[in-house]
Amino acid sequence: MDIVIIGSGNVAYHLAKSCSRSHVKIAQIFGRNDAELSKISKELGIPYSTETLADADCYLLAVSDHAVAEVSSRITKEDCLVAHTSGSLPVEELKGAYRKASFYPLQTFSRNREQDYSKIPFFIEAEYENDAEILKTLAGKISPHVFDSNFEKRKYIHITAVFACNFVNHLFARAQEISDAQDIPFSYFEPLIAETVNKIRELPPKDAQTGPAVRADHRVLELHEALLGGEHLAIYKTMNQSIKKMYDL
Ligand SMILES: NC(=O)c1ccc[n+]([C@@H]2O[C@H](COP(=O)([O-])OP(=O)(O)OC[C@H]3O[C@@H](n4cnc5c(N)ncnc54)[C@H](OP(=O)(O)O)[C@@H]3O)[C@@H](O)[C@H]2O)c1
Repeated sequence: MDIVIIGSGNVAYHLAKSCSRSHVKIAQIFGRNDAELSKISKELGIPYSTETLADADCYLLAVSDHAVAEVSSRITKEDCLVAHTSGSLPVEELKGAYRKASFYPLQTFSRNREQDYSKIPFFIEAEYENDAEILKTLAGKISPHVFDSNFEKRKYIHITAVFACNFVNHLFARAQEISDAQDIPFSYFEPLIAETVNKIRELPPKDAQTGPAVRADHRVLELHEALLGGEHLAIYKTMNQSIKKMYDL
Protein backbone atom coordinates (compact mmCIF):
# COMPACT_ATOMS: atom_id res chain seq x y z
CA MET A 1 0.00 0.00 0.00
CA ASP A 2 1.43 3.41 -0.99
CA ILE A 3 1.03 5.99 1.76
CA VAL A 4 1.52 9.74 1.45
CA ILE A 5 1.67 12.11 4.43
CA ILE A 6 0.37 15.64 3.82
CA GLY A 7 1.69 18.40 6.07
CA SER A 8 5.05 19.22 7.59
CA GLY A 9 4.16 20.22 11.16
CA ASN A 10 4.41 18.38 14.47
CA VAL A 11 2.08 15.49 13.65
CA ALA A 12 3.25 15.03 10.05
CA TYR A 13 6.85 14.83 11.26
CA HIS A 14 6.13 12.35 14.06
CA LEU A 15 3.86 10.23 11.85
CA ALA A 16 6.60 10.07 9.23
CA LYS A 17 9.19 9.20 11.88
CA SER A 18 7.03 6.58 13.59
CA CYS A 19 6.27 4.95 10.24
CA SER A 20 9.96 4.96 9.37
CA ARG A 21 10.86 3.34 12.67
CA SER A 22 8.13 0.73 12.17
CA HIS A 23 9.43 -0.06 8.65
CA VAL A 24 6.25 1.34 7.06
CA LYS A 25 7.31 2.90 3.76
CA ILE A 26 6.05 6.42 3.12
CA ALA A 27 5.98 7.13 -0.61
CA GLN A 28 6.03 10.92 -0.22
CA ILE A 29 5.60 13.75 2.26
CA PHE A 30 3.71 16.59 0.61
CA GLY A 31 2.95 20.14 1.74
CA ARG A 32 3.50 23.82 1.16
CA ASN A 33 6.48 24.42 3.46
CA ASP A 34 9.58 23.64 1.43
CA ALA A 35 12.04 24.30 4.25
CA GLU A 36 10.30 21.95 6.73
CA LEU A 37 9.60 19.25 4.13
CA SER A 38 13.19 19.30 3.00
CA LYS A 39 14.42 18.82 6.62
CA ILE A 40 12.03 15.90 7.20
CA SER A 41 12.94 14.38 3.85
CA LYS A 42 16.66 14.61 4.62
CA GLU A 43 16.32 13.19 8.13
CA LEU A 44 14.02 10.30 7.25
CA GLY A 45 14.93 9.63 3.62
CA ILE A 46 11.37 10.21 2.34
CA PRO A 47 10.81 11.96 -1.02
CA TYR A 48 8.94 15.24 -0.72
CA SER A 49 7.13 17.70 -2.95
CA THR A 50 5.39 21.05 -2.68
CA GLU A 51 4.17 20.76 -6.29
CA THR A 52 2.97 17.30 -7.31
CA LEU A 53 1.03 15.04 -5.00
CA ALA A 54 2.15 11.44 -5.58
CA ASP A 55 -0.34 8.78 -6.58
CA ALA A 56 -1.12 6.68 -3.48
CA ASP A 57 -3.62 4.29 -1.92
CA CYS A 58 -3.78 6.22 1.34
CA TYR A 59 -3.24 9.88 2.27
CA LEU A 60 -2.72 10.86 5.91
CA LEU A 61 -3.67 14.51 6.20
CA ALA A 62 -1.83 16.14 9.11
CA VAL A 63 -2.56 19.84 8.54
CA SER A 64 -4.11 22.44 10.85
CA ASP A 65 -7.81 21.83 11.52
CA HIS A 66 -8.82 25.02 9.70
CA ALA A 67 -6.99 23.84 6.54
CA VAL A 68 -8.37 20.28 6.38
CA ALA A 69 -11.34 21.10 4.13
CA GLU A 70 -9.34 23.18 1.69
CA VAL A 71 -6.26 20.94 1.49
CA SER A 72 -8.35 17.75 1.26
CA SER A 73 -10.35 19.24 -1.63
CA ARG A 74 -7.15 19.27 -3.67
CA ILE A 75 -6.97 15.45 -3.64
CA THR A 76 -8.72 14.69 -6.91
CA LYS A 77 -8.06 10.95 -6.98
CA GLU A 78 -11.24 8.98 -6.14
CA ASP A 79 -9.99 5.44 -5.64
CA CYS A 80 -8.06 6.08 -2.44
CA LEU A 81 -8.45 6.48 1.31
CA VAL A 82 -7.92 9.86 2.99
CA ALA A 83 -7.68 10.16 6.78
CA HIS A 84 -7.24 13.35 8.82
CA THR A 85 -5.51 13.38 12.22
CA SER A 86 -7.77 15.81 14.07
CA GLY A 87 -9.51 15.11 17.37
CA SER A 88 -12.31 17.57 16.71
CA LEU A 89 -13.30 17.26 13.06
CA PRO A 90 -15.81 14.79 11.60
CA VAL A 91 -14.65 12.72 8.63
CA GLU A 92 -17.10 14.76 6.51
CA GLU A 93 -14.69 17.69 6.86
CA LEU A 94 -12.68 15.91 4.17
CA LYS A 95 -13.87 17.26 0.83
CA GLY A 96 -13.50 14.83 -2.04
CA ALA A 97 -14.94 11.77 -3.77
CA TYR A 98 -12.47 9.38 -2.06
CA ARG A 99 -13.16 7.16 0.98
CA LYS A 100 -12.89 9.12 4.24
CA ALA A 101 -11.47 8.30 7.64
CA SER A 102 -9.88 9.62 10.78
CA PHE A 103 -6.52 8.51 12.21
CA TYR A 104 -6.20 10.23 15.59
CA PRO A 105 -3.09 9.77 17.73
CA LEU A 106 -3.76 10.69 21.35
CA GLN A 107 -0.48 12.34 22.25
CA THR A 108 1.02 15.81 22.46
CA PHE A 109 3.54 16.20 19.65
CA SER A 110 6.28 18.80 19.58
CA ARG A 111 8.78 18.69 16.78
CA ASN A 112 11.99 18.37 18.78
CA ARG A 113 10.77 15.90 21.40
CA GLU A 114 11.60 12.22 21.17
CA GLN A 115 8.53 10.01 21.58
CA ASP A 116 7.97 6.39 22.51
CA TYR A 117 5.53 5.76 19.68
CA SER A 118 4.64 2.31 21.00
CA LYS A 119 2.78 3.93 23.93
CA ILE A 120 0.48 6.13 21.84
CA PRO A 121 -3.22 5.20 21.64
CA PHE A 122 -4.59 5.53 18.09
CA PHE A 123 -8.32 6.06 17.46
CA ILE A 124 -9.59 4.93 14.07
CA GLU A 125 -12.82 5.78 12.30
CA ALA A 126 -13.69 5.08 8.66
CA GLU A 127 -16.75 5.17 6.42
CA TYR A 128 -16.10 1.55 5.44
CA GLU A 129 -15.12 -1.35 7.69
CA ASN A 130 -12.39 -2.48 5.29
CA ASP A 131 -10.73 0.95 5.51
CA ALA A 132 -10.91 0.88 9.31
CA GLU A 133 -9.05 -2.46 9.15
CA ILE A 134 -6.40 -0.97 6.83
CA LEU A 135 -5.81 1.95 9.20
CA LYS A 136 -5.86 -0.26 12.30
CA THR A 137 -3.22 -2.47 10.69
CA LEU A 138 -1.13 0.61 9.91
CA ALA A 139 -1.50 2.06 13.43
CA GLY A 140 -0.83 -1.40 14.86
CA LYS A 141 2.64 -1.35 13.31
CA ILE A 142 3.40 1.80 15.31
CA SER A 143 1.69 0.95 18.60
CA PRO A 144 -0.29 -1.96 20.07
CA HIS A 145 -2.86 0.52 21.47
CA VAL A 146 -5.32 0.85 18.58
CA PHE A 147 -9.03 1.50 19.12
CA ASP A 148 -12.16 1.84 17.03
CA SER A 149 -13.75 5.22 17.45
CA ASN A 150 -16.40 7.57 16.10
CA PHE A 151 -16.77 11.32 16.09
CA GLU A 152 -19.12 11.35 19.11
CA LYS A 153 -16.45 9.64 21.20
CA ARG A 154 -13.39 11.26 19.60
CA LYS A 155 -14.51 14.82 20.33
CA TYR A 156 -14.81 13.94 24.03
CA ILE A 157 -11.41 12.23 23.92
CA HIS A 158 -10.02 15.49 22.56
CA ILE A 159 -11.74 17.65 25.21
CA THR A 160 -10.39 15.35 27.92
CA ALA A 161 -6.92 15.75 26.40
CA VAL A 162 -7.30 19.54 26.49
CA PHE A 163 -7.98 19.36 30.24
CA ALA A 164 -5.37 16.68 31.00
CA CYS A 165 -2.58 18.05 28.83
CA ASN A 166 -3.09 21.54 27.40
CA PHE A 167 -4.54 23.12 30.55
CA VAL A 168 -2.02 21.40 32.82
CA ASN A 169 0.82 22.63 30.61
CA HIS A 170 -0.63 26.13 30.69
CA LEU A 171 -0.66 25.98 34.49
CA PHE A 172 3.04 25.00 34.37
CA ALA A 173 3.69 28.05 32.20
CA ARG A 174 1.77 30.34 34.61
CA ALA A 175 3.52 28.72 37.59
CA GLN A 176 6.87 29.46 35.99
CA GLU A 177 5.90 33.12 35.54
CA ILE A 178 5.28 33.30 39.29
CA SER A 179 8.55 31.58 40.24
CA ASP A 180 10.60 33.53 37.66
CA ALA A 181 9.25 36.82 39.02
CA GLN A 182 10.71 35.86 42.43
CA ASP A 183 13.98 34.44 41.03
CA ILE A 184 13.00 30.98 42.22
CA PRO A 185 14.38 28.35 39.80
CA PHE A 186 11.50 26.44 38.22
CA SER A 187 13.70 23.32 38.36
CA TYR A 188 12.96 23.16 42.12
CA PHE A 189 9.43 22.06 41.15
CA GLU A 190 10.43 19.17 38.88
CA PRO A 191 10.17 16.41 41.56
CA LEU A 192 6.77 17.81 42.62
CA ILE A 193 5.51 17.83 39.03
CA ALA A 194 6.84 14.31 38.40
CA GLU A 195 5.18 12.94 41.55
CA THR A 196 1.87 14.68 40.70
CA VAL A 197 1.81 12.79 37.40
CA ASN A 198 3.22 9.54 38.77
CA LYS A 199 0.78 9.15 41.63
CA ILE A 200 -2.33 9.25 39.43
CA ARG A 201 -1.17 5.95 37.94
CA GLU A 202 -2.13 4.43 41.28
CA LEU A 203 -4.72 6.83 42.71
CA PRO A 204 -7.72 8.38 40.95
CA PRO A 205 -6.90 12.11 40.54
CA LYS A 206 -9.83 12.99 42.80
CA ASP A 207 -8.23 11.00 45.64
CA ALA A 208 -4.79 12.48 45.01
CA GLN A 209 -5.80 16.15 45.51
CA THR A 210 -3.80 18.11 48.10
CA GLY A 211 -3.41 21.84 48.78
CA PRO A 212 -5.14 24.63 50.68
CA ALA A 213 -8.49 24.49 48.80
CA VAL A 214 -9.20 20.82 49.55
CA ARG A 215 -8.07 21.40 53.15
CA ALA A 216 -10.44 24.40 53.25
CA ASP A 217 -7.54 26.40 54.68
CA HIS A 218 -9.01 29.90 54.33
CA ARG A 219 -6.06 31.67 55.91
CA VAL A 220 -3.65 30.34 53.26
CA LEU A 221 -6.15 30.97 50.46
CA GLU A 222 -6.49 34.62 51.50
CA LEU A 223 -2.72 35.02 51.82
CA HIS A 224 -2.19 33.63 48.29
CA GLU A 225 -4.93 35.83 46.82
CA ALA A 226 -3.28 38.90 48.36
CA LEU A 227 0.02 37.97 46.63
CA LEU A 228 -1.46 37.49 43.16
CA GLY A 229 -2.93 39.77 40.52
CA GLY A 230 -4.23 39.69 36.94
CA GLU A 231 -4.51 36.28 35.23
CA HIS A 232 -2.71 34.51 38.09
CA LEU A 233 -5.37 35.64 40.56
CA ALA A 234 -8.23 34.81 38.17
CA ILE A 235 -6.86 31.28 37.60
CA TYR A 236 -6.20 30.79 41.32
CA LYS A 237 -9.80 31.68 42.20
CA THR A 238 -11.34 29.60 39.37
CA MET A 239 -9.29 26.50 40.25
CA ASN A 240 -10.06 26.79 43.97
CA GLN A 241 -13.75 27.23 43.26
CA SER A 242 -13.70 24.07 41.12
CA ILE A 243 -11.85 22.11 43.84
CA LYS A 244 -14.32 23.27 46.51
CA LYS A 245 -17.28 22.24 44.34
CA MET A 246 -15.81 18.80 43.65
CA TYR A 247 -15.40 18.11 47.38
CA ASP A 248 -18.61 19.89 48.55
CA LEU A 249 -16.61 22.37 50.65
N1 LIG B 1 0.16 18.61 17.91
C1 LIG B 1 -0.50 17.68 18.54
O1 LIG B 1 -0.14 17.37 19.67
C2 LIG B 1 -1.67 16.95 17.89
C3 LIG B 1 -2.06 15.72 18.44
C4 LIG B 1 -3.07 14.99 17.81
C5 LIG B 1 -3.69 15.50 16.67
N2 LIG B 1 -3.30 16.74 16.18
C6 LIG B 1 -3.96 17.19 14.95
O2 LIG B 1 -3.06 16.99 13.85
C7 LIG B 1 -3.25 18.01 12.85
C8 LIG B 1 -1.94 18.74 12.62
O3 LIG B 1 -1.55 19.35 13.84
P1 LIG B 1 -0.03 19.81 14.07
O4 LIG B 1 0.15 19.93 15.55
O5 LIG B 1 0.90 18.98 13.29
O6 LIG B 1 -0.08 21.28 13.47
P2 LIG B 1 1.17 22.20 13.09
O7 LIG B 1 2.42 21.70 13.71
O8 LIG B 1 0.73 23.59 13.36
O9 LIG B 1 1.30 21.96 11.50
C9 LIG B 1 0.24 22.34 10.67
C10 LIG B 1 0.59 21.94 9.25
O10 LIG B 1 -0.53 22.33 8.42
C11 LIG B 1 -0.02 23.12 7.35
N3 LIG B 1 -1.04 24.08 6.93
C12 LIG B 1 -1.71 24.97 7.69
N4 LIG B 1 -2.58 25.68 6.95
C13 LIG B 1 -2.42 25.24 5.67
C14 LIG B 1 -3.03 25.58 4.43
N5 LIG B 1 -3.97 26.54 4.36
N6 LIG B 1 -2.61 24.91 3.32
C15 LIG B 1 -1.68 23.95 3.39
N7 LIG B 1 -1.07 23.58 4.54
C16 LIG B 1 -1.43 24.21 5.66
C17 LIG B 1 1.19 23.81 7.94
O11 LIG B 1 2.01 24.30 6.92
P3 LIG B 1 2.98 25.59 7.22
O12 LIG B 1 4.12 25.06 8.01
O13 LIG B 1 3.34 26.06 5.88
O14 LIG B 1 2.14 26.57 8.00
C18 LIG B 1 1.82 22.64 8.70
O15 LIG B 1 2.50 21.77 7.82
C19 LIG B 1 -4.38 18.90 13.38
O16 LIG B 1 -5.59 18.42 12.86
C20 LIG B 1 -4.33 18.67 14.89
O17 LIG B 1 -5.58 18.90 15.50
C21 LIG B 1 -2.31 17.45 16.76
